[in-house]
Amino acid sequence: MPPPDKTAEKSDRQSLLANLRQTHEAKRPRPVVSTGRSKSQSGSFDFSRHPAYSEVRVAKAAGQTLGVQSPFFRVAEAVRTTEAKFDGKWVRNFSSYDYLSLNLTEQVQGQAKQAIENWGISATASRLVGGERTVHVELEKRLAHFVGTESALAMVSGHATNMALVSTLLGPGDLVLVDTLAHNSIYEGIRASGAAHSTFPHNDFAWADQYLSTARSRYKNVLIVIEGLYSMDGDAPDLAKFIEVKRRHDTWLMVDEAHSVGVLGATGRGICEEQQVDPSDVEIIMGTLSKAFCSCGGFIAGSAALVDLMRYRAPGFVYSVGLSMPNAATAMASVDAIENAPERVQELRRLCQFFKTTAEELALDTGPSQGYAVCPIIIGDSLKAVWISNKLLEAGFNVLPIITPAVPNKSARLRFFLNYGHDEDMIRAVLTETAVLRERSKTMSLQEMAGG
Ligand SMILES: Cc1ncc(COP(=O)(O)O)c(C=O)c1O
Repeated sequence: MPPPDKTAEKSDRQSLLANLRQTHEAKRPRPVVSTGRSKSQSGSFDFSRHPAYSEVRVAKAAGQTLGVQSPFFRVAEAVRTTEAKFDGKWVRNFSSYDYLSLNLTEQVQGQAKQAIENWGISATASRLVGGERTVHVELEKRLAHFVGTESALAMVSGHATNMALVSTLLGPGDLVLVDTLAHNSIYEGIRASGAAHSTFPHNDFAWADQYLSTARSRYKNVLIVIEGLYSMDGDAPDLAKFIEVKRRHDTWLMVDEAHSVGVLGATGRGICEEQQVDPSDVEIIMGTLSKAFCSCGGFIAGSAALVDLMRYRAPGFVYSVGLSMPNAATAMASVDAIENAPERVQELRRLCQFFKTTAEELALDTGPSQGYAVCPIIIGDSLKAVWISNKLLEAGFNVLPIITPAVPNKSARLRFFLNYGHDEDMIRAVLTETAVLRERSKTMSLQEMAGG
């Protein structure tokens, strides 16, 4: 074996240090100079005078003025697999993204408890400097194997993972071309990156193709971002078509699999399995640990170089604590559970299709949803959606509305999350009640709704 090349090693180390220093300098907070304005009497800033606070106040006041109880921040006092308790009453829960109903299984809880016993709870440091644990390394191997990529990296939040990806990989002079319905975390990443961005109409690969035909030459790197299963509409893109577009224009493609991993594909491996696409044709696969894996955190899956780049350069990884021990162990136990029992995925898919056909039989509008885990029922008016959600709770079902500005007012909806633990009777019952309330709401005035 030749002796190690000390000069190369040294220059590698020097460039690593230089990179770290550069990242550190760029992200170091600048001193804030106080203007002394907007002090409360106690001398500290009064945040009720913050411009954004007026929007919060308007949103809260709107419900009060209309006399409608806000369904947001409903506090559950206890949970069982597909039930939650509110004000002392157990109701069927359709608002949990524990898609495979693993959260309360002994298998998953047992692994989490064992991890706490072995390691405590916290990783106690950034992984770069003292927080690296075998649980992290093992989890990442399992995730990469599950999704079908060379490597993977786990981070403490799905939202932070998206922000880190976009803001670390792109900068001024680059372009992010993103589906108009993509998650907030992508847009926050774009803001932080300083890259230009453009949105394309939902799922419209032809639009993206045409746009890039004229715009591509203006940018250095271009990233196209789509989701595996959209979190508001429950529909999926045509992945092969997006791959054609990214090849034609020499761009990168990122797929956010937050809602599709564990759900799409015969064994839950996500959109690539579902649409029979080779995962290595996608540069960046991102997923969360908080949904089908019933933990908390996010992951990046792709080439070893991508993962290494993020491991050394993403501020949200380098300057943040490692994933907590029970969260890492839970995610790993969930991967095991899915690999050992893909029937869970198949049963979930069967229930989702049952939901869609039953909703259609009841003349409920399922929008563009393809009937996988995220199933909207379009109501078309925010106030009505809130009213129906409140009435459903009284009838024994927890289903949350999605209203303007999260979606346009005319497409306000009830968003159902389907779980493996639901059954046909529960689904039929909640949809029948929804259909009755939907009909009632059509002829009701605002005053009548306010009166209950
Ligand atoms: C599409 C999508 N990406 C990313 C996230 C962020 O994931 P997390 O909630 O795990 O931070 C979400 C959250 O719901 C999401 O829907």
